[in-house]
Amino acid sequence: MENNKRPETMARINTPELARQFIDEQVAAVRAQVGDKKVLLALSGGVDSSVVAALLIRAIGRQLVCVHVNHGLMRKGESEQVIDVFRHQLDANLIYVDATDRFLNKLQGVSDPETKRKIIGGEFIQVFAEEAHKLDGIAFLAQGTIYPDIIESKGVKAHHNVGGLPEDMNFELVEPVKLLFKDEVRMVGVALGLPESMVYRQPFPGPGLGVRCLGAITRDRLHALREADAILREEFDRAGLTRQVWQFFTVIPDFRSTGVRDGKRLDDWPVIIRAVNTVDAMTATVPELPWPVLHTITDRILAEVPGVCRVLYDLSPKPVATIEWE
Ligand code: XMP
Repeated sequence: MENNKRPETMARINTPELARQFIDEQVAAVRAQVGDKKVLLALSGGVDSSVVAALLIRAIGRQLVCVHVNHGLMRKGESEQVIDVFRHQLDANLIYVDATDRFLNKLQGVSDPETKRKIIGGEFIQVFAEEAHKLDGIAFLAQGTIYPDIIESKGVKAHHNVGGLPEDMNFELVEPVKLLFKDEVRMVGVALGLPESMVYRQPFPGPGLGVRCLGAITRDRLHALREADAILREEFDRAGLTRQVWQFFTVIPDFRSTGVRDGKRLDDWPVIIRAVNTVDAMTATVPELPWPVLHTITDRILAEVPGVCRVLYDLSPKPVATIEWE
């Protein structure tokens, strides 16, 4: 526990120079710890695991084995970005596992939110463990633990994050950013040359789109949700809102609503826009988004996303409403 405490003398990493200094120190420390052995990392594409991956690639190159599990509940383009940045730009030793069918089959007909979370979390561990068992000579496990994880959950990586690890994996841990706060991790990520869209990515729940496709997940609604979410993100980017709003996403309920298209009545899905500002996710407020931006998003979703006939903006603060819908 001793080296899990941030020394009071440790300077806040708030300049590129300090970030570079931290990287140099950690590169040396990781090399000393790991030697010529192999290190395994579950790379979700989130800020913390991405920064750890980039740092370890700098320290030990292809001795790091990254496993990216696509559970089929990622946002549009996310797994592709992981492959592009890590395999193509940083020459990482990256194993990509498309487990979409496996997850969606397990989730078929399951509508209870906590059961969905358990299935997604459990299946993730299973898939990761299977990949790990195929590999020879792994001696270390790297984790994107950050200081708030240590303070909040006694050293366990964010308790409700998917990405817990199999219990039979007795590897020694490599946790190079465990004493850093989130803003410092981001500084280090930028200094390592990771794209801003990755380093400043908004929080994304471990179960991903699984808890935004309400009730029992179906492939058609999941597709509509992903496309609508991509439009929302594109239009937020265009309007300069991406870094101003803490978290924003779309939700698709599991009931239909009446619409009319080309003179014909239809029963299609509504899509809900959720956008919140918060400091710690315990309470949240809803920003006043510019009306024209909401109109553009609505028009584009209705024109471009099959099966959607209605778009709503959720005005509920937390409390009483939680940020996610389920
Ligand atoms: P709520 O909905 O509880 O969300 O107001 C607070 C924050 O937590 C995120 N969240 C999750 N993150 N696994 C995660 O890793 C989950 O199961 C989960 N549920 C909610 C949510 O996106 C928000 O940032």
